[in-house]
Order: sequence, then structure tokens, then C-alpha cells
Amino acid sequence: MAAEISRRTLVELIGRIGGAATVYSALNMAGLLVAPTAYAAPPALKPGSGNGKRVAILGAGIAGLTAVYCLGKAGYQCTILEARSRSGGRVWTIRAGDQITETDSTQHVEWQSDRDIYFNAGAARISSHHQGILGYCRELGVPLEVFVNENRTALVQFDSQFGGKPQTVRRLTADLRGAIAALAAKSTPNDEVVQTVLRIFGDLGRDLTYAGSPRAGYGAGDDVPGAANRRGRLQPPLPLDEIAGPEAIRMALALCFAEAWQQSPTMLQPVGGMDAIIRAFDRAVGSVIRHNEEVMRIERIGEGARVISFDRTSGRRSALDADFVICTIPLSVLEHIPADFDPAVTYAISVGAKLYFPAVKVAFEAPRRWWEIDQQLYGGISWTGRDITQIWYPSHGFNGEKGVLVGAYIWSHDPARRFTAMTPAERHAAAISDGERLHPGYGRLVGPAASVAWAKIPYSLGAWIEWETISGARQAEYPILLAGDGPFYFAGEHMSYVTAWQEDAVQSAHYTVSQIAERVEKNRP
Ligand code: FAD
Ligand code: PHE
Repeated sequence: MAAEISRRTLVELIGRIGGAATVYSALNMAGLLVAPTAYAAPPALKPGSGNGKRVAILGAGIAGLTAVYCLGKAGYQCTILEARSRSGGRVWTIRAGDQITETDSTQHVEWQSDRDIYFNAGAARISSHHQGILGYCRELGVPLEVFVNENRTALVQFDSQFGGKPQTVRRLTADLRGAIAALAAKSTPNDEVVQTVLRIFGDLGRDLTYAGSPRAGYGAGDDVPGAANRRGRLQPPLPLDEIAGPEAIRMALALCFAEAWQQSPTMLQPVGGMDAIIRAFDRAVGSVIRHNEEVMRIERIGEGARVISFDRTSGRRSALDADFVICTIPLSVLEHIPADFDPAVTYAISVGAKLYFPAVKVAFEAPRRWWEIDQQLYGGISWTGRDITQIWYPSHGFNGEKGVLVGAYIWSHDPARRFTAMTPAERHAAAISDGERLHPGYGRLVGPAASVAWAKIPYSLGAWIEWETISGARQAEYPILLAGDGPFYFAGEHMSYVTAWQEDAVQSAHYTVSQIAERVEKNRP
């Protein structure tokens, strides 16, 4: 009940400020929309049960790779058609020397770092309860390490608060808790147990007031405890009415981010970049993937299907006949491909296609890991009210020489649209200017940039779907796609109630594989 009330209050507050799209984004980001599910086990298909049935899988992202891995083991005859020269789709790790092609620009990544220093432009972190994708990491031998999603030394900055000066997450969190605990303690004068809990919770004094805490950290120089006579001196608490100033809601969302079900410790990442998962799948499924093969047309032939594709290297067109088609192409791309779908399906695709969020990431190489050396920032995220939204300090390569910072990760609609409309050079300059608010002198501290505006990336045309952006789409159009259409099945990140995670793509592929297996079983002569 308490969670319901606070969620409703939050929805109303955010809605008043920014409208429906903002509500969905903020709640999704805060992890409050998600209905937890424990399902992660791959469907148990009997070896040979596929009996040579032909399956065309469109797209070699996580969903397509998962589907082919499951079906191949059960004796289905699978082929994946993948338009890009690489597998992985929205799992895309960028390194020195790579090229980033958007619909209207090309960037050459002019970094000097070795290939073990990287930028995960799409998927970057994995929740510890994402047992579907983690299960494949285990099975395929992909080593994992901790992804630092929250760092108390990281900063939060809003122009309208504290004179625009960044404050540490540590200090804001401790002082906010202290102030709230002191208020609560006043309203429970006769309950000693509750007061004791509040005293511990907020680090209150004996008189149940809050006068600062070591949890908030210390200032600098002699104020920091050390050897000999350096006892340390507490900082005065930041006033509650200033923490809860003009940007109170965004401040609260930033401070609570890593409380979310999907974002809380322990978070994980593959060692060496997220594409380690893709390389492992590629090795496991072998030659069934045809890269550079762009699907141009999807036809219905009797009970089955024919997929017409175009080889982007040779220019040759070919046709692939199949008993079933698993289409994992994002709806934003699929709506442009002529297909013999039922009109209700075509309409559902066109509705879903409009619901993709245009996230943007910018990364900078830095010749020196100044965030570690000068600011004791080892991984984690700083937040700002400026368009860049966040700066991520890498969770890999600690104490190394160079590093790659994520200098912007934008997932609010208006800033994302502004950054998407810019040229890469303009984006990089804007990211530096915003970053200066968190780290004065930033422009001199970072080197060459690389950025990805997902709405402009061919074969993706968006970052992830947000079904709830249009009222009713989840109830009306989503079930039509989920049911499939004769030989056609739809799988991928968009066919899930979670969305924006690899785990959705895995679970959705499992669901589709089960649908096909049940049908084959039922029709077995
Ligand atoms: P895709 O990866 O999009 O695969 C679809 C495939 O279809 C692509 O390979 C594409 O090239 C191919 N294709 C498209 N058109 C054609 C065509 N005409 N012919 C042939 N092939 C075609 N997930 C996490 O787990 N953790 C994160 O931290 C995280 N962060 C993210 C941040 C960003 C910015 C983005 C964009 C995504 C993030 N995700 C994250 C989500 C995750 O990346 C996706 O949910 C998942 O990778 C989607 O997999 P998919 O197979 O459904 O789709
Ligand atoms: N899964 C993506 C990420 O973790 C997108 C997302 C961001 C989803 C924030 C929820 C909250 O970056």
C-alpha cells in the first residue's frame, strides 16, 4: 500500500512537470514500472524435436542469437539473416579505430587506447537477477566483473541549487536521510524502538536531531581525519529545503537510482566489453548467420514464408524459404519493410514503430585517469540537470594509463532529441560544455570523442521501445504481435514487459521458441 501511494504521488508530481512521456521515462528509469519475473530458464526442447523444420531468423541481436542457439540444438534447420557486418545489434562495443555510421554522418574513432579500453554504446550493465542472459554467460564461458552503478564519491549538480556547485552523492544522501529521520523522530515521541531505528537510520544525536555525520564525508585538507593530530571536522549538514530545492524530483530520482530493482548492486559487466557475449554466441552457433544480408521483403507462401534479402557486399538478391520466421528486427525498422502480414499486424507494427526512445551516448578518451587520481572516482555515475544527464566513470581498467569516460547518457525526451539533431562535432562540444559543470577544466581533461544517437543508427532507428508512451498501445497492439501471424513470430526487446534490457530479448526469444515448439509438437503426424 505504501509503495502504491508513493508511486502515485511520484507519477502525479512528474506528470505535472513534464507530461506523459516524461512520466513513463522517469518511472521506467526508476524501475517502478517493472513487474518482476523469475522466469529465465531456456525452454526444454527434446533433441531432434525440430525434425528439420526450417526457421528463418531475422536479425542476429541477442534475441536472434538466443533463438538460434535453442532451436539449433533441437534439430531445427535455422538461418539468420543479419543486415550488419557484425552480430549483436544494440549490443555494440566501440573501440579505437572503429567507425560509427549514422543516417547523416560518419565518425572515425580516433582513440589511441588498446582494444581492452572500450565504450559500450548500447547495453552496458547487467542486473544480478537477469538470469537468462547471465545463464548464457555461464554456459558460453563469458567472464564477468562488477559494474559500479553507484558511487558515493560521484557528484550531483543542478544549476539552480547550491549555486550550481556539485555535491557528492555521499553528502546529499547522508544529509537527506539525517533530516528525514529527525523529522520522523519528532512525530513518534513515545516509541523508543522506532526512535532508536531512526537514530541509526539517520545517524542522529542523542537528542534526535541531525547535526552532520561522517557518512557525509569530510571537506578537504586538515578537515579530513588522518595521522597525528588530524581528528577531522564534520561538514555542516546541507539544509533539507535546499536539497529539496527547484530540482527536488530529479535530485531524488538521481539519489534513488541504484535502489531500483533493475539497477541495484551487484550489477555486472562482461570483462573486455559487452560484445564478449556476442562473440561467445557467434562461436557457439557457427555458420548459420549470414551477415551483410539485409531483409528487403517478407512474403507468405502457402502455410510458410519466403524472405527476400539483399547481400550488401555483392549486391546479390536471394530468397530463403522457411516453415517459420522469427522476426527480431526492431519495429522502427520493420515498418519500412514490405511484408504480407495481416493488416492488424501491420498496423500494430506501425504503432510500435513510433514508440522508440532516442537515447544518446557520448564517450571521451582521456589520456590520464584524472577522475581516479585527482577525485577518487572509481566507477559509478555523476548526475547533472544539464542535457548530458550523466557522466560514467569506467568500471574497468582501474589505475591504468588511459581510459574512456561516458560523457553523456541521455534518456529524457527533449535533451535526447536536441542531441540527436546535432552533428557529432556539435554534440561533443555540448557534452564538454555540460561536463564543465561537474568537472571544471573538463575540456582540457578529455580527448577525442565518439557518440551514438540511436535514432539515427541504421537497422536500429531507436534505442528501446516504450509501449506505455501511447495510452492503450500495450493493451491493444502488443498482444496482436505477441500472438504471431501464421508462419510469422515477433521476438526481441520490444516483445516484453521490461524493455530496454538484454534480458527481455532473451526471455522473448525463449517464449517464441516455445510457441513454435508447441505448434510443431501439436502438428506432428
Ligand atoms: P537488436 O539488438 O536490435 O537486434 C536486431 C537485429 O536485427 C540487429 O542486429 C539488426 O542489425 C538486425 N536488422 C535490422 N534490420 C534488419 C534487416 N532489414 N535485415 C536483417 N537484419 C536486420 N540492455 C542491458 O541489458 N543493459 C544495459 O545497460 C542496456 N543499456 C542500453 C543502452 C542503450 C543506449 C541501448 C540502445 C540499449 C540498452 N540495452 C541494455 C538494451 C539492449 O541492448 C537491447 O534490449 C537488446 O540488445 C535488444 O536485442 P534484440 O535482439 O531484441 O534487438
Ligand atoms: N537498460 C538501460 C540501462 O540500464 C536503459 C535503462 C536506463 C533502463 C535506466 C532503466 C533505467 O541503461
